Amino acid sequence: MEHSEAHMNREPEDDARDIGDSCSSSTDRRSLLRWCAWPILAMGSVAASLPILGFLIGPLLQKRPDRWVDFGPVDNFPENATRLVDLLNPLRGPTDGMTGKMAAYVRRLEGDAFQVLSTHCTHLGCPVSWFQESGLFMCPCHGGVYSEDGERASGPPPRGLYAFEHRVRKGHLHVRLGHLPTLQNPGRSVDV
Ligand code: FES
Repeated sequence: MEHSEAHMNREPEDDARDIGDSCSSSTDRRSLLRWCAWPILAMGSVAASLPILGFLIGPLLQKRPDRWVDFGPVDNFPENATRLVDLLNPLRGPTDGMTGKMAAYVRRLEGDAFQVLSTHCTHLGCPVSWFQESGLFMCPCHGGVYSEDGERASGPPPRGLYAFEHRVRKGHLHVRLGHLPTLQNPGRSVDV
């Protein structure tokens, strides 16, 4: 009762002052929130862009050089024949799993003359298969065909199979592996 009487005795200026106080406190809250939001937004943007920056800059910062891998004695590879060699990428990381596996087609012409070809089609990268009977590499994805020396024979591939750099040392075939050969960084035979 006393409370309602006190309320009834209030002057209009008191009400105006109360409204002003509550407005100014809500304005303070809003501006405080605005000032807090900017740093939070900025930190969020930086956090969100870190993976993208890492993806773009990471390879430049830790460029790992290719390694020479011993494929074994040259006599393991019969002359005038092509063999598929499965191996692990020497640059694989502990979390690479299946993606750390790689393969190459080794074609021995005669003596120490070899070709070491990528298994990836130069159209869209599907793995090509070697067919001894026809002497052709064929791509199952869109029908790309390569001759036994890796040159493009027909279909959508724009060029022949990429070749890995290789050399023969002390009767062993060594192949430089790590990054896949590309148009900018084609492999090549060192000694042949
Ligand atoms: Fe080989 Fe398309 S990926 S022909």
